[in-house]
Amino acid sequence: MGERKVILSGNRPTGRLHIGHLFGVLQNWAKLQEDYETYFEIADWHALTTKYRDTSSLKSDIEDMVIDWLISGISPEKSVIFVQSHIKQHAELHVLFSMLVSLSRLLRNPTLKEYVAEREALKLKTEKKTLNRIAQNISQKILKEDEERKEVLEGKIKEFILKELEDNLFSEDSEVPYGDIVNYGFLGYPVLQAADILIYRAHVVPIGKDQLPHLELTREIARRFNSLYGEVFPIPEPILNEFAKVPGTDGRKMSKSYNNTILIGEDAESLKKKIMSSYTDPQKIRKNDPGHPDTCPVFHYHMIFNRENAENIKTECIKGVRGCVQCKKEIFSKMDTFMEPYREKRKKYEEKRDLVWDIIREGDKKAREKAEGTMEIVREKMKINY
Ligand code: TRP
Repeated sequence: MGERKVILSGNRPTGRLHIGHLFGVLQNWAKLQEDYETYFEIADWHALTTKYRDTSSLKSDIEDMVIDWLISGISPEKSVIFVQSHIKQHAELHVLFSMLVSLSRLLRNPTLKEYVAEREALKLKTEKKTLNRIAQNISQKILKEDEERKEVLEGKIKEFILKELEDNLFSEDSEVPYGDIVNYGFLGYPVLQAADILIYRAHVVPIGKDQLPHLELTREIARRFNSLYGEVFPIPEPILNEFAKVPGTDGRKMSKSYNNTILIGEDAESLKKKIMSSYTDPQKIRKNDPGHPDTCPVFHYHMIFNRENAENIKTECIKGVRGCVQCKKEIFSKMDTFMEPYREKRKKYEEKRDLVWDIIREGDKKAREKAEGTMEIVREKMKINY
C-alpha cells in the first residue's frame, strides 16, 4: 500500500453519467485502482463556481454520479471516494496557494477565456431579443398607420441599439477585464483544483484534454511552493482520458449539453426511443440505398456492442441490402442486454440512497486523514504552525 503511487481525479457532480463517461473515463479509473492508491473526488465546490444560484439538485446530482461510479466498477474497498466540501483542508490549501499565483496568470487561463466568450455570446443573444421587442413596440406605437415607415424606423432603431450594446459589451476600458462576468470563485477555479491534487500529493492525474491547462498551473504552484518553502509536493503528471469513441445519437460528441446521450443503465423504454430516433446516414433514405456506416452512430454502436456481427453489417449496409430500422432494432436488443447488469446494480442504490452516503462518509474519513497529514507539513514548512 505504502509505496504505491497516488492518483487523484474528480468530476463536478452533474447527475447521471452516460456511456461516453463509462468508456472514456470510468473503465480507466477502475483499472487504475488496481495499481495505484486512488482518490476520486466529487468536486461540489467547483460545481458551485457556476451553479451557485440554484443548488437544489446538488445533493441528488452527487448521489446519481456516485451511483454511476460504483456500478461502473469504482470500488470503495480499492479507492477513496469523497466529497470535496467535506474536506475543509482543501479550502485552507486553496487560500495558501492563492498567494502564489498572480492575477495575470489566472486571467490567461484558457478555460476562463472560453467561459467568458460563451457568456458574452449568450448575453448578446438575450440582449438582441430585448432589442427586437423594444424596436417593434416603439415602431408599432408610433407608426401604427404607416407600414412602410414602420419597417424603416424599426431597422434604424435596432441598428442604433445593437451598436450601443456591442460597444458596451466588448469595450476595452472596463475597470477589470471580464469584471462583471466572472466571479472571484471562478477565477480561482484552477487554484482550488491544484489544492485538490496536491493535498493528496498525487503523482498522476487522469483527466480530459480540456483540463491540461489546469494541471499545468498545478505543476507551477507545486514548483513554486517547493522552491519557496522546501520540497513537499511531487510534480504531478497527466494521463489523458481515452478519446470519446462513442458518438451521441445525433452523430456529434456525446454530451449532456447536446441532449444526445445514452445513460449508463438507461431504462429499456427510453433506450429504445433514443435508438429508434437516432441519426443515421442521411443519404440512405430507402432500405436499398447504399449506406455510409463510418459516419453512422448506429454503426458505431454495433462496433462496440455487437462486434462479432459488425463486419457483416458494414458490408450489407454498403451494398444496400440492410435497412436502418433493422439495424436499430438489432442494436437496441444488444444494448438492452448490455444495460441489464447496470440497471440491476443501480436499483440497489436507488432503493437506499443512504448507502451512497455511507460509502462517502468512509471515503471522507480516509481523505481527511491524508489531507490533514499534508497540511501539517505545509504549515510547518511555511512556519505558520503556531
Ligand atoms: N475541473 C475538473 C472537471 O471539470 C474536475 C476536477 C476538480 C478535477 N478537481 C479535480 C479533475 C482534480 C482532476 C483533478 O472535469
